[in-house]
Amino acid sequence: MSVNTRILLKQRSRGIPREQDFELVNVAADSPAAGELRGETLYLSLDPYLRGKISGRHLSGAVNEGGLMAGEALSRVVESKSDKFKEGDIIAAHSGWQSHPVINADSARAVNPELGPLSTLLGISGMPGLTAYAGMTRLAELKPADVVVVSAASGPVGSMVGQIAKQRGCHVVGVAGSNEKCRWVVEQAGFDDCINYREEALRDGLKRTCPGGIDVYFDNVGGDVLQASMEQLALGARVILCGLMAQYNINEMPPGPNPAFTIKARATVRGLVVYDHEDLRPEFEQQVSAWLKQGKIKYKEDMVEGLEAAPGLFCRLMRGENFGKAIVKVAEQ
Ligand SMILES: NC(=O)c1ccc[n+]([C@@H]2O[C@H](COP(=O)([O-])OP(=O)(O)OC[C@H]3O[C@@H](n4cnc5c(N)ncnc54)[C@H](OP(=O)(O)O)[C@@H]3O)[C@@H](O)[C@H]2O)c1
Repeated sequence: MSVNTRILLKQRSRGIPREQDFELVNVAADSPAAGELRGETLYLSLDPYLRGKISGRHLSGAVNEGGLMAGEALSRVVESKSDKFKEGDIIAAHSGWQSHPVINADSARAVNPELGPLSTLLGISGMPGLTAYAGMTRLAELKPADVVVVSAASGPVGSMVGQIAKQRGCHVVGVAGSNEKCRWVVEQAGFDDCINYREEALRDGLKRTCPGGIDVYFDNVGGDVLQASMEQLALGARVILCGLMAQYNINEMPPGPNPAFTIKARATVRGLVVYDHEDLRPEFEQQVSAWLKQGKIKYKEDMVEGLEAAPGLFCRLMRGENFGKAIVKVAEQ
């Protein structure tokens, strides 16, 4: 009998998730029915939006107490009862935190392992990278010489935002929460500067690094970080609202940013939902694959081994202690 290891949401997290909120169970692996396939999970993606699913606030729906934790994973097909995939194919699906999922073939997507290292298809070449790409190519209206600021700069979204902006000739400043992250952002990802907001007041750091104002602010955090960045917008600035790390773990919503700053700067504020930009994926995958192979894009992964390590890394992600794309290596490729 083959075993499927699953990680369930034991109880809805209050505040920052704790490992006790999750429970590992071993059950007999299911067999696929017609139109389904059984996979062996290779890599599992841990993403901040999962915190919203735990509290039931995410637009893609909730994870219920006692239910399987949600998440996108890459799996190798080990048994197929569908014409769409054969044994050995590598697929992406929202199959959750489990080692041997049974997946409806219609909800799986073939992935091309030639595009780059497989794990990057969950990070900079996957949903987070597509978010950055869509935001920068469709919403930011980038111009060479724009001053671009991005928060959570060492993560898969933030690091791609900055590197795309650099390729377009912009001056790029990251905001990150440690000197180690800032060093990586400047020395590896090639940003012009990076503000460690834990060591320097963000308002001072933004005045120092962007004295003429910010032309494009890509926000992954909300709260005070958004407020401080709005105060430093240049005339005609564009603001991409992408993520809300500052409020995923809290129940009471903080007061929003003062729209007066948007008005004063005649700024355009755009909301970004990656699902609207699925049509960009083929172009994006080819582009990122080429950049990766030419060494034009750097990425950082915070990878742990074994499905049982998923809750610990997810809790670190939600405390902001991950450094790079949070990913679980579940099995050998
Ligand atoms: N709109 C969309 O369709 C879409 C799609 C994908 C992702 N997103 C959003 O994009 C953002 C970045 O995602 P990612 O996958 O690239 O994550 P990530 O950067 O790998 O991880 C999140 C980072 O947020 C920072 N952070 C700032 N304030 C925080 C706080 N109060 N608590 C915890 N962390 C805090 C931490 O970095 P520092 O220590 O450097 O501050 C942390 O490492 C997230 O907000 C995510 O929800 C949106």
